[in-house]
Amino acid sequence: MGTDIGGFTVFACPHCTKPLHLNRHEARCENNHLFDRSRDGYINLVVGGRLAATTTSGDTAESLRSRRDFFATGSYAPIASALANALQHITGPVLDVGCGEGYYFTHINSSEKYGIDISKKAVQMASKLLPDAHFAVASAFRLPVVDHSCAAVFSVFAPHSFEEYARVLKQGGTWVTVTPGPHHLQQMRPKRDQSIDEREERRSEPPAQAQHAERLQFELDLSPSTATDLFSMTPLVWQTAADASPTTHVSVDVWVSSGTSL
Ligand SMILES: C[S@@+](CC[C@H](N)C(=O)[O-])C[C@H]1O[C@@H](n2cnc3c(N)ncnc32)[C@H](O)[C@@H]1O
Ligand SMILES: [Zn+2]
Repeated sequence: MGTDIGGFTVFACPHCTKPLHLNRHEARCENNHLFDRSRDGYINLVVGGRLAATTTSGDTAESLRSRRDFFATGSYAPIASALANALQHITGPVLDVGCGEGYYFTHINSSEKYGIDISKKAVQMASKLLPDAHFAVASAFRLPVVDHSCAAVFSVFAPHSFEEYARVLKQGGTWVTVTPGPHHLQQMRPKRDQSIDEREERRSEPPAQAQHAERLQFELDLSPSTATDLFSMTPLVWQTAADASPTTHVSVDVWVSSGTSL
């Protein structure tokens, strides 16, 4: 249970879009739509048809545990620092879309942290890690968030919608995305032919909407168990032979892109 237990939030009712008011046990809108708060403080805002419309249930407990163990080594601290840097002058609510187990928010200085993820296990782990933040199970493509309520919104290696960013950001609000660059984790990828590599290269550009894009590249030498954690927390795990043991030397190559809502 979070220490910040009540009040109005940027979360909106998924039935009627009115702001949700939180108390210790529940979230409620002015039309009396009611959502239970879990023991760890998060709410589940995926309702009825929206669940059916979602083709993924998000990251599994196993991949989330790998992610947490990997982050504990500090290997992605440069990414977290670049993100924190891009958000350093923000005052007001900050929303993490596809927040996973919550790591990136531990580096961000804000007193109003909100996160959503489609994986209930992710939201549960994030709530325990950050008891003063607010988390909800929800889809990145239908954010249960009040229009023009957020000072910033960000997403790290997670699905996101620029239409939804524009809707939830205040005028002049900032968005930040972290997305893979062309050489990201290339040593862990299965070998492919050149034409596929060229297509991937084009897909690995910063988003067209970006007003700024900073490319961050560094090399990692990992222990075998940390390499396995990194491998298990990425979609690569599904694309590679089960008995392949992941390489311990990897290149990190990401775009930290940002823009301002007009
Ligand atoms: C690669 S992980 C990144 C998590 C976190 N941002 C991080 O970097 O540690 C992608 C996350 O997006 C979530 N996800 C996948 N599809 C989603 C959707 N449609 N809406 C919201 N979250 C989604 C997954 O459950 C997972 O936690
Ligand atoms: Zn409602």
